[in-house]
Amino acid sequence: MHFLSIRETSKKDLETLLDIATQIKFGRSWGDMKGKTLIMLFEKPSTRTRVSFEVAMTQLGGHAIYMDFTGSQISRGETMADTARVFSRYADIIMARLYKHGEMLELSENSTVPVINGLTDVEHPCQALADVLTIKERNKLGGKLAFIGDCANNVANSLMLAAAKLGMEVTLICPPGYPPQKEFLEEAKKSGKVEVVTDPEKGVKGADVIYTDVWVSMGMEEEKAERMKAFVKYQVNQDLVKLAKKDCIVMHCLPAHRGQEITSEVLDGKNSAVWDQAENRLHAQKALLLYLMKQR
Ligand code: CP
Ligand code: NVA
Repeated sequence: MHFLSIRETSKKDLETLLDIATQIKFGRSWGDMKGKTLIMLFEKPSTRTRVSFEVAMTQLGGHAIYMDFTGSQISRGETMADTARVFSRYADIIMARLYKHGEMLELSENSTVPVINGLTDVEHPCQALADVLTIKERNKLGGKLAFIGDCANNVANSLMLAAAKLGMEVTLICPPGYPPQKEFLEEAKKSGKVEVVTDPEKGVKGADVIYTDVWVSMGMEEEKAERMKAFVKYQVNQDLVKLAKKDCIVMHCLPAHRGQEITSEVLDGKNSAVWDQAENRLHAQKALLLYLMKQR
């Protein structure tokens, strides 16, 4: 069993992973990774994903190996398929962060050990797992999630599916010309109530959770100038937060561009849940590692 997308993850598996993560977070043992090795393959930069997976393996008694493209033979043309075949002979589990989702599929199709998607251009399922864990522990899973900004990126794709599957009402707030990806929107609508609006003030009304991410994801750098203009009115600032529920939480997968998609006042303010959210990457991924090992 691999963990490549929220699209392919059932509601039942999501709920099980949340339960295990909660137990682990509050000190209950759910197994270990003693003698097990995780290979972490990175084509793009990372702070949280790399460190939280490595710490998770250490704390569970296993070992993590970091490998980036430049230091591997992939940089000299070795294919993802051959890399997967070799990694499978050494490691018990693989996590990769790649530009193209197609390459992730090639990696997983040729791996005999579980593969975890640590972000591609299409999905960021590990982030969504930590996000719904954070929303659950703040008792807001039954509420309304307002995602504002780039509703077509990897984080939005995974989160809208996870939130809808777990019963949240989802409002996607995006500028004209930057709609959500149709296939993800349609899929999310199958699970719950999902609407798309262009007016930020209307969209955040009554929200229990406000979520934003960068306007320019990794790999989209050449679109930066036009995106900065298009998204300028879609900033999460204190005036916008005031329109949501008083006790709403504000979330961001991080890294944040302070002063662009979110102000420092909000990021560091009383409604911000971003540091708990970042911490929850560790607990959610421990649950995921143990769950995937048990499924083998
Ligand atoms: N949120 C997240 O995936 O962060 P990193 O890019 O630092 O891993
Ligand atoms: N959407 C962002 C998420 C970073 C964690 C990106 O892909 O750059």
